[in-house]
Amino acid sequence: VAAMVKAMDESLGITVPVALHLDHGTYEGAKACVAAGFTSIMFDGSHYSIDENVAKTTELVALAHDHGLSIEAEVGSIGGEEDGVIGMGEVADPAECAKIAALGIDFLAAGIGIHGKYPANWKGLDFVALDKIHNATDNIPLVLHGGTGIPDEMIKKAISLGVSKINVNTECQLSFADATRKYIEAGKDLEGKGFDPRKLLAPGAEAIKATVREKIELFGSANKA
Ligand code: 13P
Repeated sequence: VAAMVKAMDESLGITVPVALHLDHGTYEGAKACVAAGFTSIMFDGSHYSIDENVAKTTELVALAHDHGLSIEAEVGSIGGEEDGVIGMGEVADPAECAKIAALGIDFLAAGIGIHGKYPANWKGLDFVALDKIHNATDNIPLVLHGGTGIPDEMIKKAISLGVSKINVNTECQLSFADATRKYIEAGKDLEGKGFDPRKLLAPGAEAIKATVREKIELFGSANKA
């Protein structure tokens, strides 16, 4: 995989660092990705007891660092929709965050967000919890999961409280679906060879790029690679 990433960098003329990162990996999945040549892994041990999370994270930190990879760990849980019900997740306990942060991980996912769209009655990010976690974890870079649908001002405040990586997925998927729907509703798949997947999927891919570009600007990441 590492050789493939390098070849892609060269053939596509990519000049910024690109990471191939495993998101929400299991213990076994994280090990498999280290062996496969990923450049970064996340081990999500948040559903284990804190002691087991500590033990497994400790082992994976050593493995990842031996291979020159960065590793993200998780405490608390990230909410999201399951069977039509949106769960709010479990806000991470600062003392548990401190324990995991002290294991030598490179970034910490502290459950304060939710995956997917936020419910209409959402009260916003829990900045009190974020501040406590930030203070308890010795400036470790924090990861905000569930980046979709968070107002810009809240994103900026989260960054000021130690968030250094923000995961956005659903918003990219929605941009893709919207652009693809417009293409089909305009009947473009019926014109010439508009049904060719390379044409049919192009507007969606461009829409994802535009969303990513917006996020790079909003997060203050432009020209910082
Ligand atoms: P969203 O799908 O809510 O943007 O969350 C993405 C994420 O956190 C992936 O780990």
